[in-house]
Amino acid sequence: EALDVIVVGSCMTDLVSQAPRLPKAGETIHGHKFFIGFGGKGANQCIQAARLGAKTAMVCKVGKDFFGDNYIQNFKDNGVHTDFVGQSSGSATGAASIIVNSAGENAIVIVAGANMLLGSEELQKALPAISHAKVLVCQLEISPQTSLQALRLAQKNGVKTIFNPAPAIPDLDPDFYRVSDVFCCNESEAELLVGSPVANVEEANQAGQELLKRGCGSVIITLGSQGCVVVKTQESISKHVPPTPVMAVDTTGAGDSFIGALAFYMAHYPTMILEEMAHRANQVAGRSVQAAGTQTSYPFRDDLSAELF
Ligand code: RIB
Ligand code: NA
Repeated sequence: EALDVIVVGSCMTDLVSQAPRLPKAGETIHGHKFFIGFGGKGANQCIQAARLGAKTAMVCKVGKDFFGDNYIQNFKDNGVHTDFVGQSSGSATGAASIIVNSAGENAIVIVAGANMLLGSEELQKALPAISHAKVLVCQLEISPQTSLQALRLAQKNGVKTIFNPAPAIPDLDPDFYRVSDVFCCNESEAELLVGSPVANVEEANQAGQELLKRGCGSVIITLGSQGCVVVKTQESISKHVPPTPVMAVDTTGAGDSFIGALAFYMAHYPTMILEEMAHRANQVAGRSVQAAGTQTSYPFRDDLSAELF
């Protein structure tokens, strides 16, 4: 049976410390809580789509180590297909050191490890599944060439693509725009890609128009507590999708929750307008910021209002 959503992307073990604020260079500060969780932008997005009811598979690489074994079990526990989850002895499972301050903001260092070993061989193995999926999602925590190749394969087979250029790189291959049906990034990623500030709705409109010109089908720029902006080729004006205000406990992975939800809506309601999908995805992600951690905070279908489905 065909998949709704296939994610070609990263898995990381999140090592999270909660502290009153982010430390400065050379400084040691006391935090109050430490925990380990399942993260990585690719896996986060896949898990969120699965929790909303999408039939999902993950194409990724973990290490042949304790963290990798655990991660595979996590996919199984969430109903994600693991046929294309590889384990390599050449590198360790990816890890993310995360510090969260009292405002729920974070700073993250990732060591991608085994994620960087995902390549064309694994994509070829997954090709039958990729070519029959409804939506494919990629990010930039694996080799950019692998992401680009996956997006190309999807596009060639008429599979809808979502590309999340995160973490952003200044020298992004221009082909990424042409293979993205939906190009979805946050304000800081948009800023880096267009080279001008993106701090409010107006600037996001400008940046969105610029990114759209580079060849993508549609652009979504998420603005945290300011909601998001949707720009489409068919329409000359951008739409601002306002947020649903929430008290932020931990915003880590909220963008991934948004993208996972967006992938779910694109697969399940292909005729829904993109603004409406973004509006609903905002509400799903809004739930995730109200609890600590990344995947631990992602809502299941049953936790959400029936109006979202
Ligand atoms: O987007 C949030 C994610 O970024 C975290 O889970 C961490 O693993 C990093 O990849
Ligand atoms: Na959270």
